[in-house]
Amino acid sequence: MSSGNMEEEQQLEEPLFILENGEVYRNPTEVKMSQIVLPCHANHCAELSVGQLLKWMDSTACLSAERHAGCSCITASMDDIHFEHTIGVGQVVNIQAKLNRAFNSSMEVGILVSCEDLFSERQWKVCNAFATFVARRTDSGKVQLKQILPRTQDEQMEYSIAAERRRMRLIHADIMKDLLSNGPVSRGECQEYQNAVPAEKTRVESVELVLPPHANHQVNTFGGQIMAWMENVATIAASRLCNAHPTLRTIDMFHFRGPSQVGDRVILRAIVNNTFKNSMEVGVRAEAYRGREPLRHINSAFMTFEVLDEDKKPRTLPRIRPEPVDGMRRYREAIARKKIRLDRKYIISCKQTEVPLSVPWDPSNQVYLSYNNVSALKMLAAKNNWVLSSEENKVSLYTLEENQFLSFRVEMKVDVPAERVFILLSDLSRRQEWDSHYKQCDVINQVDEDDVIYRVVTPSVSKDSKFQDFVLLASRRQPCDKGDPYVIALRSVTLPTHTATSDCNRGEVLCAGFTIWEESKTITKISYYNQATPGVMPYISTDIAGLSSRFYSTFCACSKFLEENKDGSPAVQSAAL
Ligand code: COA
Ligand code: ADP
Repeated sequence: MSSGNMEEEQQLEEPLFILENGEVYRNPTEVKMSQIVLPCHANHCAELSVGQLLKWMDSTACLSAERHAGCSCITASMDDIHFEHTIGVGQVVNIQAKLNRAFNSSMEVGILVSCEDLFSERQWKVCNAFATFVARRTDSGKVQLKQILPRTQDEQMEYSIAAERRRMRLIHADIMKDLLSNGPVSRGECQEYQNAVPAEKTRVESVELVLPPHANHQVNTFGGQIMAWMENVATIAASRLCNAHPTLRTIDMFHFRGPSQVGDRVILRAIVNNTFKNSMEVGVRAEAYRGREPLRHINSAFMTFEVLDEDKKPRTLPRIRPEPVDGMRRYREAIARKKIRLDRKYIISCKQTEVPLSVPWDPSNQVYLSYNNVSALKMLAAKNNWVLSSEENKVSLYTLEENQFLSFRVEMKVDVPAERVFILLSDLSRRQEWDSHYKQCDVINQVDEDDVIYRVVTPSVSKDSKFQDFVLLASRRQPCDKGDPYVIALRSVTLPTHTATSDCNRGEVLCAGFTIWEESKTITKISYYNQATPGVMPYISTDIAGLSSRFYSTFCACSKFLEENKDGSPAVQSAAL
C-alpha cells in the first residue's frame, strides 16, 4: 500500500454546514458508503482491486442520483479518474457522493473517495470523480427532473461548473475524433525499437454472462460492473506486457453508449496500444450480445498503467511493436491521447491561482482552456464573501481579498434584454466604443462560435509611457438553464505568433469577464469581474476611490452603449448545451 504522506493527509469528513440563519444543513442527496477492504476485494498484492472500487463508487453515486430523482437511474458516463493512491487490505474505503446538478433527465453526481487507516487514524484522498446518471425512461417518455437548490458556497460553485463539465462531456467524443484525425501525431511514423514486445502478446478476450447479481431490480447491468470487467481485462493486458503487477493510474472517460441486461453476454477485449517511458496505455472495448443477435458496442475506455519497483518508483517499460493497420493507428492515437491527457491535467486540475498566467494556447488544449476560463469566472462569481466598497447611482463596486489576490466586481442594471447585452459585450472589438482603456482590439483567431482570441492594447498602468498589450481568450456561454446567467470569460494565453514586442509591455489577465442575468424581459443585471494580477495590485489597492470613480464612468458609458444599440441583430449563433 502506498499510503499518503503527512502533507497530503486531510480532514476529509465534511462537517455539517451551519447556514447563516443558524440552521444545521446536510445536503439531502448526500450518500456515504464505508467498506473495510477484505482479501476477497483485493488482488494478489493485497491491494483493493480498482474494479471493486469502481463498483462501490458507481452504486454510491447511483443511490445519490436516485434519492433526488425518486426513480431508477442508469449510469451514462464517468469522467476521467486519476488514482492518487492504492488501498490495502484491512484499510477502510470511505465514499461520499452528492448531486451537483440535475439537468433535464440527467444528473451530475460528485464522488469523493478516501482511505482510512484504522490503526493510525489517518485519512487521505484516493480520487474524486464525476458521474452522470439518467433517470430511466417511463412509458410516457423521458423524465423531466426537478432542479436542485444549491445552498452553500461549495454547492453553488459545483452547481455552476457542472454545466461546463456537462458541455465538455457532450462534445468529448467529437473533440477526440477531431484531434485524433487532424492532429500532427495522426500522421507520424511509428518508431522501430529493438527488443520491442509485439502488441499481440498482450491481447485479451474474455466473456461474461450478465446474471441477476450484476444488475439492478430492473434487470439493467450496473455500470460499475461493466467498468470492473473492463478494468480486469485491461490489467491482464498490462501484466502481459511487463510480466509484473501493474498499477492503474488513470482512466479516461467511460461513456455507456447503450444498455445491457441480465442474460446478455458481454465480450471484453483489451490490448496495449502503446508504451511510453514509465507508463502504458491499454484500450478496452466492451460489446454485448444475446443469442444470435449482432454485437452491440457498450463502452470503450483507455487506461494508463505504471509498474512500480520496490521503492514505489515507476519502472522503465519495454516498447511495443504494434500490429499493422489498426494497431499502428491506435499506437499513434495513444501518443495524441497522452498529450491531451497531460494538457487536460495541467489546465483543469490546477486551481486558477496555481496555473501560470501564460498558458500556451493550441488547438489540442483549446477545449480545456475554454473550460478553465469559464469555470474560473464562475467560481469567482460564486464566492459569498464579496464586500460592497462603494455605490454611485446604482453602479456598485465590490471587492474580495483572498489568497493574496484582490478581485473586484462592478454591478449595474440596464434596460436592455439580456441576450442583446450578451451579443454586444461578447464582441470585444466593440469595447472601444464604451471603454476608453481599450485603445485597440484585433481578432487574432476566431476559434469557434464561442471562443475568440484577441489582442488588446491599453494605456500603461506603470509610469513609463509604453502601452500595454494583452493576448486574451474570450469564451462565452449561453445559459444552460433558465436560472443561469450568460457568461463571457477572459483570460490571458500565449501564442507563438504573437509574442511580446518592444513597443508594448505585455500584460496578463488572470480571470475577468461578465455574468449577465435576465431580471425580466427588459431589465438585465450585468456584473463585471476582474481578478487583479500581482503586477497591478499596488496601483489598485492604494486607490480604491479612484478606481471606483473610473469604473463608474466606464460603466455609465457601457450602459449608454448598450441602450443605444439595444435594437439589433437576431439571436446568438452558438448552441446552448
Ligand atoms: N455523458 C453524459 N450524459 C450524456 C451523455 C454522455 N456521454 N450522452 C447523453 N447524455 C445525457 C444527455 O445530455 C441527456 O441529458 P438531459 O436529458 O439532462 O439533457 C440524457 O443523457 C439523455 O439523452 P438523450 O439524447 O435523450 O438520449 P441518448 O439517446 O443520448 O441516450 C443514454 C443516453 C445514456 C440514456 C443511453 O446512451 C443509454 O441508455 N446508455 C446506457 C446506459 C446504461 O445502461 N448504463 C448502465 C451500464 S450498461
Ligand atoms: P479504437 O480502435 O478507435 O481505439 P475501439 O472502441 O474499437 O476504438 O476500441 C477501443 C480499444 O479497445 C482499442 O484502442 C483497443 O485497445 C481495444 N480493442 C478493440 N478491439 C480489440 C480487439 N479485437 N482485441 C483487443 N483489443 C481491442
